[in-house]
Amino acid sequence: FSAFLTDSFGRRHSYLRISLTERCNLRCQYCMPEEGVPLTPKADLLTTEEILTLARLFVKEGVDKIRLTGGEPLIRPDVVDIVAQLRRLEGLRTIGITTNGINLARLLPQLQKAGLSAINISLDTLVPAKFEFIVRRKGFHKVMEGIHKAIELGYSPVKVNCVVMRGLNEDELLDFVALTEGLPLDVRFIEYMPFDGNKWNFKKMVSYKEMLDTLRQQWPELEKLPEEESSTAKAFKIPGFRGQVSFITSMSEHFCGTCNRLRITADGNLKVCLFGNSEVSLRDHLRAGASEEELLRVIGAAVGRKKRQHAGMFNISQMKNRPMILIGG
Ligand code: GTP
Ligand code: 5AD
Ligand code: SF4
Repeated sequence: FSAFLTDSFGRRHSYLRISLTERCNLRCQYCMPEEGVPLTPKADLLTTEEILTLARLFVKEGVDKIRLTGGEPLIRPDVVDIVAQLRRLEGLRTIGITTNGINLARLLPQLQKAGLSAINISLDTLVPAKFEFIVRRKGFHKVMEGIHKAIELGYSPVKVNCVVMRGLNEDELLDFVALTEGLPLDVRFIEYMPFDGNKWNFKKMVSYKEMLDTLRQQWPELEKLPEEESSTAKAFKIPGFRGQVSFITSMSEHFCGTCNRLRITADGNLKVCLFGNSEVSLRDHLRAGASEEELLRVIGAAVGRKKRQHAGMFNISQMKNRPMILIGG
């Protein structure tokens, strides 16, 4: 495995998340402020060719999983073509996408043909009116349609990302669990995390322990599944149910020790951790005509500076970062 992608704690970064756009067709409260965020001028965003050049380089060095994120990745006009081109990269085993699901039912047949292997869909409520409140747009039924299309086309499990916020959707946990009885879903309850402009506060966060207690009261037979290497999620299952439920515990029990993730933002920065603003522009080096060797040295130096873990629950809310919409999760 490449020394350039191995950090000073021995973590091998084999999972690359690429943001395809800063734009989104929703305005989720936990992701961006109501007024939106200043967008990068088009000329400063990575072109498709630049994305593919970088992807090729990372895969050559040992990345075997790429996840496309945003903004909303499915609003990039050439997203199907990007998946098809990534599919040609030898050594790349998984191409995933994290989407809000609005355009999914329409695009999934083409995406599947192009080689998309895994789908994560954000859905925070099963109540249409509440959906409109959380995402500040309409579209609940489109998202449900997207989820069902993914199941129909054989994706298994289809992961559903649910950011749990106190007073908003914490009362729906058991309804989400009920979905896993008959459907091959992995419903993932995510602890609410602070990002620039999302008005996070400690009281709005519902912890893993608390969520688990709620589930256990109704389902004492809830069974913990074996941990998957470098996974963000702790998985559980109710015996006899088709799907499973998981928890992403970034706040109360971080999983930095097994982190294998790097990110490229839509404007071409390599971000070595979800939190903090330690970034380096790969775009500028590419456009200055850097050789592969030079790019790798820049990447290696950034990975080498990666910290053991983020600074802890209270500090990260004060760290300089980006709004989530400009990171992609
Ligand atoms: P899989 O590849 O299916 O395991 O998905 P994933 O969890 O890696 O990605 P997804 O885009 O579905 O993100 C789900 C949640 O996990 C989001 O809230 C992300 O912000 C969070 N997440 C993803 N990667 C990291 C990470 O490296 N660190 C932390 N703390 N959270 C992460
Ligand atoms: N806290 C936790 N998860 C978040 N996501 C977006 N914003 C936040 C936040 N503040 C999740 C979305 C999406 C994934 C990429 O990140 O649900 O599925
Ligand atoms: Fe990796 Fe940073 Fe996430 Fe920790 S917070 S798991 S180091 S990306």
